[in-house]
Amino acid sequence: MKIAITGASGKTGFRIVEEASKEGYKIKQIVRKNSVISKELEKHEIIKLSLDNKQKLDDSLRGTDALIIATGARASLDLTGPARVDALGVYRQLESCKRVGIKRVILVSSLCTGKLLHPLNLFGLILIWKKIGENFLRNPYFEWTIIRPGGLKEDEIIDDQNVLYSKIDSQTKGSIPRRLVARCCIEAIKNKESINKIIEITSSTEYKKVAFEKAIQSI
Ligand SMILES: NC(=O)c1ccc[n+]([C@@H]2O[C@H](COP(=O)([O-])OP(=O)(O)OC[C@H]3O[C@@H](n4cnc5c(N)ncnc54)[C@H](OP(=O)(O)O)[C@@H]3O)[C@@H](O)[C@H]2O)c1
Repeated sequence: MKIAITGASGKTGFRIVEEASKEGYKIKQIVRKNSVISKELEKHEIIKLSLDNKQKLDDSLRGTDALIIATGARASLDLTGPARVDALGVYRQLESCKRVGIKRVILVSSLCTGKLLHPLNLFGLILIWKKIGENFLRNPYFEWTIIRPGGLKEDEIIDDQNVLYSKIDSQTKGSIPRRLVARCCIEAIKNKESINKIIEITSSTEYKKVAFEKAIQSI
């Protein structure tokens, strides 16, 4: 199975590439022109493009079986980022999937998506644009899974962390290492039970250990 990963140069994106590689998937990293990919991940195919280049996006997605979307507006003074990347950028990727016949799509979104009164919205109403992006994906054409993590952390020492998986709009705070978000994306690809589900995730030493496939049965 060949997976396309957009935003593969991001802090969650590169970890998704690493986790997908460990599981033996063929990988296509789709990034923008000036994105930086680490030396170790250069062995996987890399395509550089702008998401508004329809033809190039179609050519890059053609021949892959699934897409994991890990793009997201980077924090900046440009408050149009969330609208351009988290809504329009997702829309463009999904339209391309339809043109080339990809149905399986995993989207990395966020806890609290859709909430208006939230401090994160000071950055270009990001939680509103993310909800619009999610809604583009929640379309009967797709076999979709939306992963909504809490605040993302860089920790790599995570053996003591267990994940709390829950359904839409059930968690409002908490955090999770990006490594565990990446693993969750790959678990979702492997488990058909995750199709058409929004899965909220945070982690803690306090949570009970539970396997992904078991946890998502009740979501
Ligand atoms: N930060 C948090 O605490 C938090 C919490 C919950 C959810 N999230 C969401 O989780 C996802 C991953 O977050 P992260 O912090 O790991 O990501 P990140 O490191 O900021 O990476 C973002 C990725 O998106 C790409 N990107 C940005 N603008 C783009 C554009 N206009 N066209 C194409 N690609 C573009 C970046 O490319 P370049 O490398 O070229 O910049 C990069 O690959 C995001 O959707 C984020 O909103 C974040």
